[in-house]
Amino acid sequence: METIITKIDRKKPDMEVIQQAGKILASGGIVAFPTETVYGLGANALDPKAVEKIFKAKGRPSDNPLIVHISSQEALSALVSEIPPVAIPLMKHFWPGPLTLIFPKSSIIPKEITGGLSTVGIRYPVHPIAQKVIQAAQVPIAAPSANLSGKPSPTKAEHVIHDLKGKVDMIIDGGCSAIGLESTVLDITGEIPMILRPGGITQDMIEAVVGPILLDPALESRREVSQATVPKAPGMKYKHYAPKAQVEVIVGEVLAVTQRIQQLIKEDKSHRKIGVMATDQTQSQYEGENVFVLSVGDRKQPETIASHLFDVLRQFDEEDIDVIYAEGVPEVQVGMAIMNRLVKAAGYNILYV
Ligand code: TXA
Ligand code: MG
Repeated sequence: METIITKIDRKKPDMEVIQQAGKILASGGIVAFPTETVYGLGANALDPKAVEKIFKAKGRPSDNPLIVHISSQEALSALVSEIPPVAIPLMKHFWPGPLTLIFPKSSIIPKEITGGLSTVGIRYPVHPIAQKVIQAAQVPIAAPSANLSGKPSPTKAEHVIHDLKGKVDMIIDGGCSAIGLESTVLDITGEIPMILRPGGITQDMIEAVVGPILLDPALESRREVSQATVPKAPGMKYKHYAPKAQVEVIVGEVLAVTQRIQQLIKEDKSHRKIGVMATDQTQSQYEGENVFVLSVGDRKQPETIASHLFDVLRQFDEEDIDVIYAEGVPEVQVGMAIMNRLVKAAGYNILYV
């Protein structure tokens, strides 16, 4: 399949490109576009054949439900059978933005979207290109992250091109995704809202608006799903975010972490190519013949770590690194989402120091 690849200015987008994307989507095609979290691969959410193309292009398991994206709050009511009262303040504070809310679904949502569940995830992105593409399509847009299933989510068009060129109708290059981690997924169908996937909108931010909420117990587990509680977001149980290299996360106080990584480098006699995922504060402390060091961001500004994480994992692949030692970060605020993605990239391979 020929993939149309077009660059577009985030602030002054070429409306012809947007119209073209809208037409492709409305006629059953699939289009990758930027959002504030990660790039999405969109299809008409009400067209099961179009939705199936997404699963095929990504190699995604069919029981993993898709989030439906809208470009106005008015579009919500047709898609859900009920709007729980707690949704009102949440939408007011966080929409448009990186918060996906799980509602009881309405009958127009095809089963291909929900993987057979009776609920549907809805997100109203704030990114201007995402909004304009959805508007132009004039239908709700199902959009998972635009990566091959199992790979790190794409935060740049290059990542999407690498994974999906030739498999999708169009890729819109709108620059880097600012947040860099997928949206927070919050289930509001129960008595108390529950975070199913941590993201840029943190537990504290949500609790400031609606009071105490819950965390899916599976998120607190550091073990693989086979041995732990099954997560409520089906996608959270799959191997994810994995670069080609083996990843090991080193968790502890910064000083102990850097010392342990230095020691691991020194003691390695295998001639493997070693990657170190460091931070601005620590990157100068690693050296060695086969060692390739990248800083993922500033420990004092964890949002910078969130926004670079997936890109840095992919950069190690470009360098054909065999093993990546990654510094853990404190699991507070957005650090929770960062560590959630990182330990999955590592296949739960964690070293506590
Ligand atoms: O930021 C994002 O959410 C991006 C951009 C493109 O909007 N999209 C994204 O989609 O991350 P995806 O498909 O890669 O991840 C969706 C996650 C999966 O873990 C899925 O299992 C969960 O949301 N999910 C979707 N619908 C659900 C439902 N009805 N109940 C529970 N979990 C659901
Ligand atoms: Mg994904």
